[in-house]
Amino acid sequence: MKPTRPFHQTPVITIDGPTASGKGTVAALVAAQLGFHLLDSGALYRLTALASARYQVATDDADALARLVGDLRITFREGLAQLDGVDVSSEIRAEEIGKRASAIAVHTPVRAALVARQRAFRKEPGLVADGRDMGTVIFQDAALKVFLTASAEARAARRHKQLIQKGFSANIDDLLRDLRERDARDSQRTAAPLKPAADAKLLDTSALSVDQAVGQVVQWYQALTPHA
Ligand code: DC
Repeated sequence: MKPTRPFHQTPVITIDGPTASGKGTVAALVAAQLGFHLLDSGALYRLTALASARYQVATDDADALARLVGDLRITFREGLAQLDGVDVSSEIRAEEIGKRASAIAVHTPVRAALVARQRAFRKEPGLVADGRDMGTVIFQDAALKVFLTASAEARAARRHKQLIQKGFSANIDDLLRDLRERDARDSQRTAAPLKPAADAKLLDTSALSVDQAVGQVVQWYQALTPHA
């Protein structure tokens, strides 16, 4: 029988970074390659943002937003995000929802209300978690912490391609401006600002293919666990 590790030892790989740094794609592929669970923490903030728009909770009402998080009926199944039992995976990817998510993510009570929901994803055989504060706050004891970076231009070009592929309209200059605004807000907020953990490995993906970035993360992880 396979030995079961105590809860706190279930391995976690955190992949943090700014918007459109490629962390979502890299995290999903690393998780698939290692057979690990996946937490897209940004999706939780986006779901909260969508719910706040639907139920008309103002983005500056921190306490009402935190209560909303407590009541959210969220499910993730086979890569789909559901709110109140309805698939909203595409809806939460809209730029407007991303901006709203960034605006509500500045509030400490909102972040606190989401902590337990995020930690619940830590299950055997392991977890890959992507976001902004996975390594600095949520999984401080992660086995491997990666901070992905890429130039603002490279990220705007990627986001543009993604949105067009998904059938959204997009203008690259607007995207670059929004992305810089979002970076500034995510990095300058007092509650869990976007920054690399002191023990994170930095990976600049501007000139890397997705496969190269995934390969590097898997290699770092395997170097830590030679018998895995
Ligand atoms: O990664 P994303 O673009 O889906 O995230 C949307 C917003 O949610 C992002 O601008 C800031 C917030 N967020 C956060 O504050 N902390 C996280 N761990 C993940 C996302």
